[in-house]
Amino acid sequence: MDPRPPRTTGRAPGRLLAPDPGWTTEADVVVVGSGIAGLTAALRLTGRVGRVLVVTKDVLDAGSTQWAQGGIAAALGPGDSPAQHERDTLVAGAGACDADAVRILVTEGPDAVRELIALGTQFDLHPDGELSLTREGGHHRDRIAHAGGDATGAEIQRSLIAAVARSPEIEVVEHALAVDLQLGADGGVAGLTLHVMGEGQHDGVGAVRCRAVVLASGGLGQVFSQTTNPPVSTGDGMAVAYRAGAVLRDLEFVQFHPTVMWLGPDSRGQQPLISEAVRGEGAFLVDWEGRRFMQGVHELADLAPRDVVAKAITRLMMETGHPHMWLDARHLGLEFWERRFPTILATCRRHGVDPVADLIPVAPACHYASGGVATDLWGRSSIPGLYATGEVACSGVHGANRLASNSLLEGLVFSRRIAEVLPGELRDRTEPVSDPRPAGLVDGGVRRALQEEMTTRAGVLRSAEGLRAGLNGLDELAELPAAAVGQDSWEVTNLLTISTLLAEAALLREETRGSHWREDFPDRDDAGQSGHHDWWLEGDRPRHAFRAGAPSDTTAEVPA
Ligand code: SIN
Repeated sequence: MDPRPPRTTGRAPGRLLAPDPGWTTEADVVVVGSGIAGLTAALRLTGRVGRVLVVTKDVLDAGSTQWAQGGIAAALGPGDSPAQHERDTLVAGAGACDADAVRILVTEGPDAVRELIALGTQFDLHPDGELSLTREGGHHRDRIAHAGGDATGAEIQRSLIAAVARSPEIEVVEHALAVDLQLGADGGVAGLTLHVMGEGQHDGVGAVRCRAVVLASGGLGQVFSQTTNPPVSTGDGMAVAYRAGAVLRDLEFVQFHPTVMWLGPDSRGQQPLISEAVRGEGAFLVDWEGRRFMQGVHELADLAPRDVVAKAITRLMMETGHPHMWLDARHLGLEFWERRFPTILATCRRHGVDPVADLIPVAPACHYASGGVATDLWGRSSIPGLYATGEVACSGVHGANRLASNSLLEGLVFSRRIAEVLPGELRDRTEPVSDPRPAGLVDGGVRRALQEEMTTRAGVLRSAEGLRAGLNGLDELAELPAAAVGQDSWEVTNLLTISTLLAEAALLREETRGSHWREDFPDRDDAGQSGHHDWWLEGDRPRHAFRAGAPSDTTAEVPA
């Protein structure tokens, strides 16, 4: 292990610097987030737990679900089975999955998708009415259901919003940033402070007293300079949970999607995804000489698991000095492009590339956080009354590298499970106790510098030297005085908290596993590093533990 001890000796802010709540309201359950995980939880809790309030930082469809292209994976096709889906998930996860969580995902997945169809999601069908299923990296079967060709997330989001609109019992508050949890004397959930940008009664910082909180607030993609994630993905849910004392796990496992459209050296923020499904339908990667470089790298070639493809592209970029590689999908033809990938076609054209005639420039960019708030098999965090689901959570299904199109499925399956147990374990209302810990705030103006630091030092390829330098850089940013209290500073404070833990975890994991790639430790080390890095706050003291465990992809449990 790195001789530099993790920062468990210092102190950390226990809450965000924010005005005292100017208003208070009551709910039974607050769901934070409005993607597939949040709205599924809200829909299934309604009628079973009293007042359900959905709060979302922007508008209902501003999160990552809306942007999902490829689809949702489930063993629904002929010849497929949950056991085969399980094996592909465990292999992609590179030994760091929770095998029980994976089994739940793949066995409950097909019913969960059928339920989504019953709710109104219109997946693409073959002329005979059967689901049209495609393939993506790491899958040995066609098992990805898609909608609108490449607009799967948008269709799922549409159908869920429509279902919420049919459920007048669900109350929605948009433009509401979760600031901090309020805890009762027993350490369990008593409420949540929010900043609402609205009018009238609920404007500014207020408090919702409640009996449970379901975090479904998405990921942390904005930690990096280039990401497929929308601007709202600033790790808020993970930071809120951490400050309240919840355990965060596997933060070092951040997936970089191999084929993100390269828009030039200065392009920052959300970048256009070129779905893996394009390769699933026959596109392939080439270098600047037109050589198909994935052949011979992996038995699945261009459809190898995502980490393998992202590494191959990055290696070539480093060796040749080129800023990107190319995706060749010209042979798919105009009719196919228009029918199967209309969104990507329009995006490419908007950026001056015609994929029917031109190669598409692609490079890896941050795509998905496999780690997050540690949960059990029912979405429970380590804090009584706090649940987490979707990208904010670490349920254990993704391990070190999420299998393509397992993310929408995870949100669906684990939100259903939360809704099964939560009504039976709803806490009595408790008064929040005042929090004596110091409040923290980072200057909102350092967002860009933080993202550059993380991209350079803790991005796709990592080393001890780079990570140490990155942590020092983050420390310097944390010292700058915050100019103003408000959403920008709160988001950047959350980004800094999560970035620091991510870089710490990446430094401690002295091996290469899945999406975590160390140039100074190029091999996987099952004997010394199989297990999880956990982080939590005790009061204002950061704590870390390494929880050793057997690698999940080498157990006898993996079906042949
Ligand atoms: C893609 O369409 O390539 C992304 C799907 C996913 O992230 O699982």
